[in-house]
Amino acid sequence: MKIGVFDSGVGGLSVLKQIKEKIDFADVIYYGDSLNSPYGSKSVEEIQKLCLKIAEFLIDNRVNIIVVACNTATAAALETLKERFTSVPIIGVVEPGAAIAIKESKNKKIGVLSTPLTAKSKVYEKAIKKINPKSEVFQKGCELLCPMIEKGWESSEKNLNLLKEYIHQLPEEIDTLVLGCTHYPLIRDDIEILIDKKIVDPAEEVAMQVLFELNKLALRTGFKKEKKEKVKVDYFVSGDIEIFKKVGERFLGEKLSNVYQPLTD
Ligand code: DGL
Repeated sequence: MKIGVFDSGVGGLSVLKQIKEKIDFADVIYYGDSLNSPYGSKSVEEIQKLCLKIAEFLIDNRVNIIVVACNTATAAALETLKERFTSVPIIGVVEPGAAIAIKESKNKKIGVLSTPLTAKSKVYEKAIKKINPKSEVFQKGCELLCPMIEKGWESSEKNLNLLKEYIHQLPEEIDTLVLGCTHYPLIRDDIEILIDKKIVDPAEEVAMQVLFELNKLALRTGFKKEKKEKVKVDYFVSGDIEIFKKVGERFLGEKLSNVYQPLTD
């Protein structure tokens, strides 16, 4: 079995990490669209176009499931992708994130840090209120975080000050903070220093949903799940491979081999 995972760059690695921890019988194709990153400052139409191409690439490479490991792409293109590609299940990151946020929050006042597009789309507010209409959701769009993480968070001296500025724009009354951009778990340690709230990373719940879908597929097709010695991940990176490797290796704590540049037309 093969899992297709994609993001605008290194962010989806936070989802990949959880998938690798929970699923040992399927290989992965990871697509990082760093050439077109950040998605968060693009239009919905542009993002849909990019996502349709990536999904096509993954399906051509025979994946059994697609994980949209990007909140911005989930907000802008999940429904379009589901309409266009019906042969495989397609999972986004927002609904799983909303579900854990509601589970974790006691006062149901929830903050969400995300890209500007995700914040503007109000996907989290809608998904959280669908589960609990009485909850309150405060979204902050953080334009500069994703590009800084993509380049290597440590390389910027202003990183902590900027992060502090964004975080302080959320109201004090929230008791839970959702990392509503898959890039943010890469800087979770710094976020935890700056805010004393329950932090929710949707990635673990996303991985559980992927496992659930693959189990269903195995039952339906008679596929025998066998533990692999080592799960193989092929990485396709549209932008700078070396930067992707540097940031990715640091986060995953392992060498990244099998990193390729996808053929583009
Ligand atoms: N990791 C993406 C997300 O979860 C970042 C999108 C971007 O490139 O701006 O939203």
